[in-house]
Amino acid sequence: MSQFRVTRTLPEDATGAALRADVLAGLTSTPKWLAPKWFYDARGSELFEEITALPEYYPTRAEREILADRAGSIAAATGARTLVELGSGSSEKTRILLDALTGLRAYVPVDVSESALTQAGEAIVAERPGLQVHALIADFTGGLTLPETPGPRLVAFLGGTIGNLLPDERAAFLAAVRALLSPGDALLLGTDLVKDEELLVRAYDDAAGVTAQFNKNVLSVINRELEADFAPAAFEHVALWNPEREWIEMRLRSRAAQTVKVQALDLAVDFADGEELRTEVSAKFRREGVRAELAAAGLELAHWWTDGERRFALSLSVAG
Ligand SMILES: C[S@@+](CC[C@H](N)C(=O)[O-])C[C@H]1O[C@@H](n2cnc3c(N)ncnc32)[C@H](O)[C@@H]1O
Repeated sequence: MSQFRVTRTLPEDATGAALRADVLAGLTSTPKWLAPKWFYDARGSELFEEITALPEYYPTRAEREILADRAGSIAAATGARTLVELGSGSSEKTRILLDALTGLRAYVPVDVSESALTQAGEAIVAERPGLQVHALIADFTGGLTLPETPGPRLVAFLGGTIGNLLPDERAAFLAAVRALLSPGDALLLGTDLVKDEELLVRAYDDAAGVTAQFNKNVLSVINRELEADFAPAAFEHVALWNPEREWIEMRLRSRAAQTVKVQALDLAVDFADGEELRTEVSAKFRREGVRAELAAAGLELAHWWTDGERRFALSLSVAG
């Protein structure tokens, strides 16, 4: 029997219906916005992997350093037999945890990107024949149902992806994660930290232009899925630091006055010259803020680990 299963927890058309609803809401708002989960079709997932290797993009290296230093402590503190990973992508750093969690029986990667999940899941099963891998194609903000696997469970949410949720979405998300945990289960959370503005902005506006391509990929997704006629070259990639909210914003700035048609929504969207469309926020955190957000969801921060340059943090909370 194969040890790799993929389950789609969304009805076939749920993604399409959600994309239509989000695009309609976002492109008819002032200011305009799009939700970051729509970056990640197969091309978007590939581009994100390229970003993780860029010299300017420190979060992946910093988080990998912490995982390499602390995986033994994480294994000892949790004794996890199931690892659930939200927004798992390529599961590349996860292998450090898979190696350290010696009692692990099951790995449950969860992602909206089917291509990333399938590639990563197949590779991990081939590397670790004893491990059950049960991939879930699911939206982690949409009420997850986890498969029956042995406890204790460790839920990992790496990459600083939590920063892509707005504060009220984060609160709802953390409360929902807390509700998935039984006593003795744990949450391992990766958060990028507030730091020098120049370093932050460069991480989202690299010299090779890969992040710009990633940002514009959302336009190609809408063109393909909703029969729109966005011309990606007619938009400029923008990354800026918002010091009040302590988040990076990625935007697409219209290079001219233009009208974009989204046929599947029967919608014509006017952009003024220079008008910006927000495509992502990436919040940066401080220890006290993370502690307080976890506490508000009923989770107590048990460990806080940073890399040597204090750029990124991993926190571990164990459910009581
Ligand atoms: C910033 S990447 C991080 C990937 C990986 N965890 C890492 O640390 O390199 C975010 C990942 O979360 C997935 N994702 C984004 N929004 C999601 C959502 N609402 N539900 C499920 N997966 C989501 C994306 O497809 C992508 O693989």
